[in-house]
Amino acid sequence: MEQLLCFIFFHIFIIVLAPQLALASDPACRDTCGSLSVKFPFGTGVGCGSPRFQPYISCSQSSDGGDQLLLRTHTGVYPITSISYEAAAFTVTPPLMSNCTSMQPSPNLGLDWASPFQLGPSAFILLSCPPSLTSKASPPICDPSLSHLCASIYTCPAVVSLGLPLFPPTNSCCVYSPANFNTKGELDLHALKCAAYASVMTLGDYPTDPTRWEYGVAFKYTQGKFDNYGMDTKCYTCDSSGGVCGYAPPSNSFVCVCGNGFNTSSNCNGYSFSGIWSSGSRPTRKAWWGVLAWLGVLASLTIGMPT
Ligand SMILES: *[C@@H]1O[C@H](CO)[C@@H](O)[C@H](O)[C@H]1NC(C)=O
Ligand SMILES: *[C@@H]1O[C@H](CO)[C@@H](O)[C@H](O)[C@H]1NC(C)=O
Repeated sequence: MEQLLCFIFFHIFIIVLAPQLALASDPACRDTCGSLSVKFPFGTGVGCGSPRFQPYISCSQSSDGGDQLLLRTHTGVYPITSISYEAAAFTVTPPLMSNCTSMQPSPNLGLDWASPFQLGPSAFILLSCPPSLTSKASPPICDPSLSHLCASIYTCPAVVSLGLPLFPPTNSCCVYSPANFNTKGELDLHALKCAAYASVMTLGDYPTDPTRWEYGVAFKYTQGKFDNYGMDTKCYTCDSSGGVCGYAPPSNSFVCVCGNGFNTSSNCNGYSFSGIWSSGSRPTRKAWWGVLAWLGVLASLTIGMPT
């Protein structure tokens, strides 16, 4: 009798818990990272999203323990703070970028040439530059019609951490617009001899209050429709069935990654866990080990059972 009960509990344990254990130890592509919703062409790891994005985008644990989507380039690693899939644009906050409350010397900011990303429309305010940059640079890079942004941001007391006096003369500040990256793909602060930069996304309702501006660097990316293999339609179908779009190296053919460890070439409909017993599904190795272990337990208990 005890053995029978034990057998039943084992049975229940294996059927109910094993699939979850296998899933928990094997996170495939995820559709969120931190607070961001991650969709094609972004991905959370190798095999997820677009193979064009994957070398530069990852979902990693941040210092506060949460997950963070990151852009990696030859100049650094930048947390992605928002993505607009409709506008094909995203923003990053470089850790050493300045804003009104915190200013510090910044290294160059750059993109890799091979990446599918371009600079978006944020305004770069270059701080603590030689005065010759605003007066004599040729070609001129500072937009005089935006110099009021310099006047505003130079009211921030944080300027002293750049070695500037309070309310410094604005001829050491330059609104670089339209901003361009140099031939190495970088905002070359070193060549311009500026100490720091603040990139402003929007002034919002407070054009003269730099404490309320929205800081960040905007990037654009080329749309999914420029991908080969008709990703747009395939990915839409996969996405609407609850899957995550990915690819299978080395050919990088399209894969729809379903939540339960199954991958398909179409969509996740019919690939729920019960699908393991239907033909055409492809259980993972872990799932098969689970089934084998269960059969083993079943066999040993049956043999040991009094008849
Ligand atoms: C499913 O696809 C993901 C991402 O492409 C990959 O990491 C995983 O190994 C694949 N799983 C199977 C069972 O092929
Ligand atoms: C200003 O920059 C600091 C340091 O990078 C950051 O911790 C803070 O959140 C930023 N503040 C705003 C309003 O962006």
